[in-house]
Amino acid sequence: MANATDLPPQTLPIPYDPSASSSSLFDRISTWASENKAVVYTIAGVTVLVSAAGIYYYVNDTTPSKPSPKKKSKKRKGKKDEDASTGATTSRETPPSVSASTGDYELENVDMSEEFITSLSEQERKDYASKLKAAGNKAYGSKDFNRAIELYTKAIDLKQDPIFYSNRAACHQAMGDWEKVVDDTTAALNLDRMYVKALNRRANAYEQLKKYSEALLDYTASCIIEKFQNPTSANKVESLLQIVATEKASAMLETKKARLPSAAFISNYLQSFRPKDLPAGLTETDDIDESSGKGQLRKGLVALRGRSAADYNEASEAFTKSLELDDLGEYEALAHNMRATFLWLLGDTDSAMTHINKSIELDPTMTQSYVKRVSMYLENGDRDGALRDFEAAMEHTPDDPDIWYHRGQFHFLNQELNEAAADYQKSIDLDKDFIYSHIQLGVTQYKQGSIASSMATFRRCIKNFERVPDVYNYYGEILLDQKQFQKAVEQFDTAIDLEKQVHPTGMNVLPLVNKALSKFQWEQNMDEAQELCQKALLLDEECDIAVATMAQLLLTQGNVTEALKYFEKAADLSRTEGEIVNALQYAEATRTQIEVQQKYPQLAEHMRSMGGPMGGAVPY
Ligand SMILES: *[C@@H]1O[C@H](CO)[C@@H](O)[C@H](O)[C@H]1NC(C)=O
Ligand SMILES: *[C@@H]1O[C@H](CO)[C@@H](O)[C@H](O)[C@H]1NC(C)=O
Repeated sequence: MANATDLPPQTLPIPYDPSASSSSLFDRISTWASENKAVVYTIAGVTVLVSAAGIYYYVNDTTPSKPSPKKKSKKRKGKKDEDASTGATTSRETPPSVSASTGDYELENVDMSEEFITSLSEQERKDYASKLKAAGNKAYGSKDFNRAIELYTKAIDLKQDPIFYSNRAACHQAMGDWEKVVDDTTAALNLDRMYVKALNRRANAYEQLKKYSEALLDYTASCIIEKFQNPTSANKVESLLQIVATEKASAMLETKKARLPSAAFISNYLQSFRPKDLPAGLTETDDIDESSGKGQLRKGLVALRGRSAADYNEASEAFTKSLELDDLGEYEALAHNMRATFLWLLGDTDSAMTHINKSIELDPTMTQSYVKRVSMYLENGDRDGALRDFEAAMEHTPDDPDIWYHRGQFHFLNQELNEAAADYQKSIDLDKDFIYSHIQLGVTQYKQGSIASSMATFRRCIKNFERVPDVYNYYGEILLDQKQFQKAVEQFDTAIDLEKQVHPTGMNVLPLVNKALSKFQWEQNMDEAQELCQKALLLDEECDIAVATMAQLLLTQGNVTEALKYFEKAADLSRTEGEIVNALQYAEATRTQIEVQQKYPQLAEHMRSMGGPMGGAVPY
């Protein structure tokens, strides 16, 4: 089965956490926020350790399915044996002569007129049809497809049998006549909706005709009928989801207006650099004309402190304006740096790169520029470029703790935990007041399996950074991961209280989302969990983690229709094309399952018997 690392690179613009892989896309729906968003957030500054992990939604049950009732399996087996595509030689019947003779007629030469057909008894029709089919199989076996089509057509005239249609479809398939494959498999499926071979054959024809959504629907239905035991169709589902999502993403990107990500995301990113005072000459007491380039630059820097979505939008506009004005002087490099930062946040990595290059050209000693360019390189999948910039930055200012912290993040994402821990430690040695190095060190120790060291690190953090809400939030995540629910919720509550006090205008809503997850995992309190997520969305309506978590809570409840809305919203909130494609894959997977449920009510039983919450959701 595919795992997360098998996804084509464009869905994963940044290094992926291979340990977070699960067995199929349907499993991955359940851990989307924790796997996908964690990576994006780590690049943005702070690790989301467990968000949404532990909500387990599955359609793809990997435990062996119960044997189906005897009768059914026999029927299916018979079907398989008689199927043309398995070759006439596997037929259990006595080897048919190409000349399907009844004794009375040379059947293949008989005109199947209505008169002829009505002249036959029921039993005769069945027998003759069966002989014609056998002859058809033989012709198929010797690749005489036109003749096989003729024989199957006569068989169909005598008897409406899904196998005859499906076999004729196999001939059309061999001849590449895809429209006719669709017609015949559809006829077969009208007679037997659960006929997997016909479903797969039609799916393949749809794929050839580039009708990808239709193909996806058929393969998904086929997977569900076979309880995901057939890896070929499961892989088809994955690759078609990718194709459909990529197509939809391109359409979406054409009309999408560039928009900043959630305030939570931006705050995370900005606070991954140590806070700096306003530069000399640009402070609030300096007398600067607001409408000048310098004035706009200062306005933007001041707005960043507000931390709300409105503040970030104001800052973004001010940085753009500052560069349109002409008096920046010594602050031009900083203005390009800030403009690049917001272009990157807006998902326009290419333009961001242009501005960050300009900033580096104007002031090669501003090491933050190299560190920011690392994120841009990583988003383009350029690991070497990223490493080069760390080196360049360290050459200029080896004692800048920001660089060590960010290189720690880089190693962390690449699962190089020892290197990560060493870099965080170095950052701490250079500046013990930068809280995020401590937090990340604690998270890394936890991932390394040093639970005791990790706990000690967090307890030390609480002692030294009593008023920093993030400390409680991430300590809570680790407790939650250990299923210490009560203690975890206490930490999240403290974080929420402190957020309100410390960041009254732009509170970080992640502790609310984490509390929602705890309530769900601990007490299965779905109502409270959903309320907490809604509250987070009221405070930060673009918060992608809250949106993803809502989607997952709804899926666990079996509320697939409502979950779909949230997956679509997540796609809409995504920053880059890769993220949009990724979110749309989940949306499409969800949408397809809804369609399968509606189109194949008889599959309700299959979904239920798989034990997943989907089963309960089927309204039939
Ligand atoms: C920015 O500079 C890097 C390193 O010199 C270079 O590889 C890249 O092509 C430049 N990008 C742009 C958009 O100027
Ligand atoms: C799904 O969730 C929505 C919103 O929470 C709710 O209004 C609706 O009744 C739910 N549907 C089902 C089938 O549970």
